[in-house]
Amino acid sequence: MRIIAGEARGVRLTNVPPGVRPTSDRIRESLFNVLGQFFDGGRVLDLYAGTGALGIEALSRGLDRALFVERYGQAVAAIQENLVKTGLSGQAEVLRGDVGRALARLTADGELFNLIFLDPPYRIAAAEVGDVLARLHSLLAPGGRVVVESDGLPRDVVRGAKGDSRRYGGTVITIFERSELAMNVAVCPGSFDPITNGHLDIIRRASGIFDHVVVAVGGNLRKAPRLPAEERARLIEKVTGDLDNISIEVMTGLLVEFAREQGARAVVKGLRAVSDFESEFEQAQLNRTLCPEIETVFIMSAAEYSFLSSSAVREIAGLGGEVRGLVPDGILEIVREIYSGSEEKTETIRQKIG
Ligand code: PNS
Repeated sequence: MRIIAGEARGVRLTNVPPGVRPTSDRIRESLFNVLGQFFDGGRVLDLYAGTGALGIEALSRGLDRALFVERYGQAVAAIQENLVKTGLSGQAEVLRGDVGRALARLTADGELFNLIFLDPPYRIAAAEVGDVLARLHSLLAPGGRVVVESDGLPRDVVRGAKGDSRRYGGTVITIFERSELAMNVAVCPGSFDPITNGHLDIIRRASGIFDHVVVAVGGNLRKAPRLPAEERARLIEKVTGDLDNISIEVMTGLLVEFAREQGARAVVKGLRAVSDFESEFEQAQLNRTLCPEIETVFIMSAAEYSFLSSSAVREIAGLGGEVRGLVPDGILEIVREIYSGSEEKTETIRQKIG
């Protein structure tokens, strides 16, 4: 493998570490023919960078800064060696670690890139690629592009994504303009102790309005919850398997920070009755003061759930009452058992959540 054009043209790259699948010289050449041969400055972000060949080729052709993200130690060493060989180390930073965490940090810092390469190992689940792609919009400078390499069409993964795809043998390269990645992401936060049919109705309706909904399970709540956040999240997972545009995360910090990291523009809350209004109004105003660009959107609860709350479910289950119809059927038994028992009994039942 060698750099094809630009100031490092012809430099032979180091041996590819085992387990890394680099983009072949032929595909790299075709790709840059489509992107434009040379660049006049700008920043490139190379995610799942492998040997770093894509980002280094971009530097060689005129971009002036590169950030490589790679978690595999031998690949990080290969990127560093390749940067030394090409004399481009001074223009590059290599971040060893997880792509999701790197994106959260870059988004929170408001970093912008002109070119982003997303070349994940093909074994990485389509859902993860979709999640990453959905978060790149806010990192892309105006006029910037995202290049995705895959063995299938990424537009199958991201709802609404368009992109310009070309196939090279078993490899598909798709180039997205910034507008083609615009996703309306919303965060739907709550304690979910436990999730009720009212919550599920709001999550379902939000998933019909937004391209992607991140259900945020509160980790630091004012009132101590009965179950740890990870287990409340798992109960939600059990009953939302049919919704393909949601993800479920535990949120430990401020809601607005979490929303920013997720690239969300909106926070969605359910509003049951006037009694909810005061506290929701206060939270929405506080969140707007902290972060004016994130809107709080309220969805009116369906009439049949307007009386329903997690605290009522806990109380009814705790006193041996019937919670059928109040919580989703898929977790009925487990909710009955967990919330009817003492704290000690709960400990053993919790293991059933899996
Ligand atoms: O289901 P709940 O109890 O109404 O959910 C409350 C939640 C998780 C939405 C709220 O506690 C929250 O936003 N927590 C994150 C911490 C935060 O951002 N607080 C400042 C906003 S008032």
